[in-house]
Amino acid sequence: MKSVLIKQFGGIENLIIGSIAKPVPKANELLVRVKAFAINRADLLQRQGKYPPPAGDSEILGLEMSGVVESAPPQSAAGFKVGDRVYGLVSGGGYGEYCTIDARNALHIPAHFTFETAAAIPEAWLTAYQAMYLVGDFQKNHTVLIHAAASGVGSALIQLAKAGGAAAIIGTAGSDEKTQWCSELGCTHTINYKNTPSFAGEVEKITQKKGVNMVFDYVGANYWNDNLKSLAMDGTMVFQGSMSGGIVKENANIANILTKRLRILGSTLRSRSIEYKQDLIQRFHKTCDPLFENGTLKPMIDKVFSVNDIQEAHRYVDSNLNKGKVVVKGFDEN
Ligand SMILES: NC(=O)c1ccc[n+]([C@@H]2O[C@H](COP(=O)([O-])OP(=O)(O)OC[C@H]3O[C@@H](n4cnc5c(N)ncnc54)[C@H](OP(=O)(O)O)[C@@H]3O)[C@@H](O)[C@H]2O)c1
Repeated sequence: MKSVLIKQFGGIENLIIGSIAKPVPKANELLVRVKAFAINRADLLQRQGKYPPPAGDSEILGLEMSGVVESAPPQSAAGFKVGDRVYGLVSGGGYGEYCTIDARNALHIPAHFTFETAAAIPEAWLTAYQAMYLVGDFQKNHTVLIHAAASGVGSALIQLAKAGGAAAIIGTAGSDEKTQWCSELGCTHTINYKNTPSFAGEVEKITQKKGVNMVFDYVGANYWNDNLKSLAMDGTMVFQGSMSGGIVKENANIANILTKRLRILGSTLRSRSIEYKQDLIQRFHKTCDPLFENGTLKPMIDKVFSVNDIQEAHRYVDSNLNKGKVVVKGFDEN
């Protein structure tokens, strides 16, 4: 089958289209002809050799995809059958012409979704939902601070926080165009972090010195001190990414953790068991499907690329140009 391959770990020029063996589904897996997949930050790291797939999982890039079932186990979860439109979360393989997925981690595509829309949902929305409700303990009327708010994950968090009744949603992003976009999506306040020496100072003003109940952080090292300063008493930080690095170089003030009784929680989705993901997917499906259907929640797609332009698609995300998700049409659709 055709697939996007990594010639050698490194820059975008190493992404090539080649041929590899079609994946063979295990007993509990569906074989899916991929119609669309989406790009994630993790793909950029994997391309550079910095984020290998869990042992035993596909080496092919791609954490989410949508497509048509080519083969299904006789009694699969949710009764999937050949020809069904499905989408879901995978630990790798989404960039191929075909992809296998454990039937417990797949969902039927609702009639009102295109393949592109469905492919834009799993990784960003499940990461956001997990952060708010499984790892964190988001409650109605909480105030939240969302970093990288215009990212795929950030755009899902803003909408989930709004739908969940957050009292204030503060989003940080690196341009006025992005902060404006985040406001339109549901942020009550935004901070262009490039225009301020300290987002903590802005959070202090916005919350009248109370701080926020929850911080969702994807930036890591550079934000450590300001995140601790920004949290209210008994606040929670959910830490799911370290785009500025994982080593805090400045003097880190951990005293706030004691005095404010903070909870600092971390998680990655990819390394979770099939059973954990199944539980997360079912909870998300039950809570959010009606909200997608009535338009409260909307997968935000910035651009759709052809798989033949995979290098351009990675360049776009690498350059921090996207607001929301970047989707790629599968080989079948080109
Ligand atoms: N733990 C998990 O399970 C999990 C799962 C999925 C994603 N993630 C993490 O979630 C984050 C967002 O992922 P995504 O795929 O949704 O991202 P994305 O759409 O590619 O957007 C990432 C954005 O982050 C901002 N950014 C990049 N480097 C930065 C830095 N050094 N300091 C501040 N902001 C920076 C940029 O926007 P600006 O222009 O605003 O700077 C960039 O556009 C990533 O850290 C990713 O690794 C974690």
